[in-house]
Amino acid sequence: MLRPVIALFISTLTAIVAAAEVLPGELPVDAYEQSNENAGAQPVENPDVFAAFHGQDGIDRIVDDLVDRIIVDPRIEGIFRASDLVRLRRTLKEQFCYLLGGPCEYTGRNMMDAHKDQGISTREFNALVESLQAAMDTEGVPFAVQNKLVAKLAPMKRDIVTR
Ligand code: HEM
Repeated sequence: MLRPVIALFISTLTAIVAAAEVLPGELPVDAYEQSNENAGAQPVENPDVFAAFHGQDGIDRIVDDLVDRIIVDPRIEGIFRASDLVRLRRTLKEQFCYLLGGPCEYTGRNMMDAHKDQGISTREFNALVESLQAAMDTEGVPFAVQNKLVAKLAPMKRDIVTR
């Protein structure tokens, strides 16, 4: 009687966990439902945008540069000290690739759940966006195209900033 219920529960849990391509070194997180909806916005429709970011390789470089910057930025580095940076790099790469119209699925948590315990302020939010802009400059993404990504991220502030 109970067996089918348990089997269904386990298969659902496996499906949720198996969908993410978790990298070696990532720490486990509590189960959550995976969906591109968690990325917080719809992708841009113009394929030129993904190309102007130099595709997946360009996005990977931008995210790695962004993370390298924020973990040494005295304004915000303390917030990232207890974080799983392997997972953060992976999910940010997925999220940006998805939002920029690339062939990616976002498998991370939604913005509200990912940031709810961090106590992030508007100043701290702006500090991260500054580092993102510097990383996009370094990659040689034209300013007008940078703004396509910034425009997708800006409204997420209401789910990320809690103080
Ligand atoms: C629009 C801006 C932002 C975006 C798109 C974004 C995106 C993300 C993503 C995709 C994750 C990983 C979700 C997961 O693990 O499932 C994450 C986690 C995290 N974010 Fe953000 N984030 C933003 C702003 C910020 C800011 C401003 C801060 C702090 C200054 C911050 C601090 C963190 C921290 C500490 C984690 C890790 C949480 C943990 O270890 O559980 N984020 N963010």
